[in-house]
Amino acid sequence: MSQQVRAVVARSKGAPVSVETIVVPDPGPGEALVKIEACGVCHTDLHYREGGISDDFPFLLGHEAAGVVESVGEGVTDVAPGDFVILNWRAVCGQCRACLRGRPWYCFSTHNAKQKMTLTDGTELSPALGIGAFAEKTLVAAGQCTKVDLAASAAAAGLLGCGVMAGIGAAINTGNVGRGDSVAVIGCGGVGDAAIVGSNLAGAAKIIAVDIDDRKLATAKRLGATHTVNSKETDAVDAVRELTGGFGADVVIEAVGRPETYRQAFYARDLAGTVVLVGVPTPEMKLELPLLDVFGRGGSLKSSWYGDCLPSRDFPMLIDLYLQGRLDLDAFVTETIALDEVEKAFERMHHGDVLRSVVIL
Ligand code: APR
Ligand code: ZN
Ligand code: ZN
Repeated sequence: MSQQVRAVVARSKGAPVSVETIVVPDPGPGEALVKIEACGVCHTDLHYREGGISDDFPFLLGHEAAGVVESVGEGVTDVAPGDFVILNWRAVCGQCRACLRGRPWYCFSTHNAKQKMTLTDGTELSPALGIGAFAEKTLVAAGQCTKVDLAASAAAAGLLGCGVMAGIGAAINTGNVGRGDSVAVIGCGGVGDAAIVGSNLAGAAKIIAVDIDDRKLATAKRLGATHTVNSKETDAVDAVRELTGGFGADVVIEAVGRPETYRQAFYARDLAGTVVLVGVPTPEMKLELPLLDVFGRGGSLKSSWYGDCLPSRDFPMLIDLYLQGRLDLDAFVTETIALDEVEKAFERMHHGDVLRSVVIL
């Protein structure tokens, strides 16, 4: 028996999103129906609305969410009704080459729900990142649900489903930041700030925040940066070198997604250091480097996709740290809003006014 609920839909390219009634079917085999409690507004939602990801309109937006499992389909044993879960947009398959070789964070045979959610006229919706959680209820694959301690606030927990996990994971999983390391984070939005928090958790001794906006640098400092550099006023590479005894940082995390910041990241690292690229470039962006500079430097250049996370390992661990007061996820929740305020939240995000707006349902 299907249900009707309210949800945020992007009907056509570039048009403002609207709150619509949608039809959510019962979970099929391997699926779970989740009553959403909170869902953060991420840049990717705006990209979907703008048609930058696919033309498969209408989209059901929202993918940074936590909620309670209402019912499960046939064969689901990992989660049960009543479980408090964080949703993920990469339920690993367990069977592809990456999974079989023990690197499931490279799995791209992701499993989403097969049952279709629709508008009331029957038009099929495309759930953003296979989730669609700006909705009172949504249908996902059971593998997209990770059970965590229900003492956590839903607004904070949901953020682990995307941006905050991407940043923390860039530091602890991809960058492998260790005790005593120096880290430079270029771009201190939600993702960069999460990388700062992750570096702190990993025991970094020096955390240098680089941004062009002093407001962002102030927040970065509050979240654990030990030094700040405004790269509008000072050369970022020179400043990072100076702060690291002339060597460059052990780990540099790029969280902007522009050629000039990728370049800064490349040159701001110690000769044996690691560069972690998190910022998503656009297809036409190119980075040209003298090959001799690549040859003359050791270390590694890595990209981090979803923080190379393993939800089953990382979500419960980070929620435990949060509940112990060792990981301030609440600091990322700038404001809580209602379902019909998502469009306004896009505007605020665009102006750099918020780390995260979180829809509470
Ligand atoms: N140099 C340094 N910082 C910059 C520059 C620059 N040239 N240009 C922009 N920034 C800063 C902004 O001031 C802002 O603080 O980068 C930050 C970007 O933050 P957000 O726009 O909030 O983006 P965020 O959600 O953190 O995502 C960052 O990671 O996952 C990807 O797609 C995402 O590419 C995006 C990046
Ligand atoms: Zn996202
Ligand atoms: Zn796989």
